[in-house]
Amino acid sequence: MIKLCSTEELAEGHSKGFEVAGKHIIAVKKYGDIHLYKNACPHLGVRMEMVPDQFLDTSHSLIMCAMHGALFRIEDGLCISGPCLNQALTEVSFEINEEVIYLVADED
Ligand code: FES
Repeated sequence: MIKLCSTEELAEGHSKGFEVAGKHIIAVKKYGDIHLYKNACPHLGVRMEMVPDQFLDTSHSLIMCAMHGALFRIEDGLCISGPCLNQALTEVSFEINEEVIYLVADED
């Protein structure tokens, strides 16, 4: 497993980006729950941020792709607006052990 960060480093209602072992990952915390997705927009397969660690819309309630503005639900990654409507971000497996988030290493 690959260490990403502590659960405290990921602030409530905020997002962080990681590049570990050649993988680009988005992490978001909402209502205390942590969600991890591949940083690859279903529209064109590109990374989604303009500014490091900024993956949310202005309301901090949806994940946003900065390329063409697609919006995704934080809880399941489903696109609810934009050119990839009804497609979803790819979830990434992780574990939390002693307040540290670990990526499960056998993801592709
Ligand atoms: S690449 Fe994400 S909306 Fe177009």
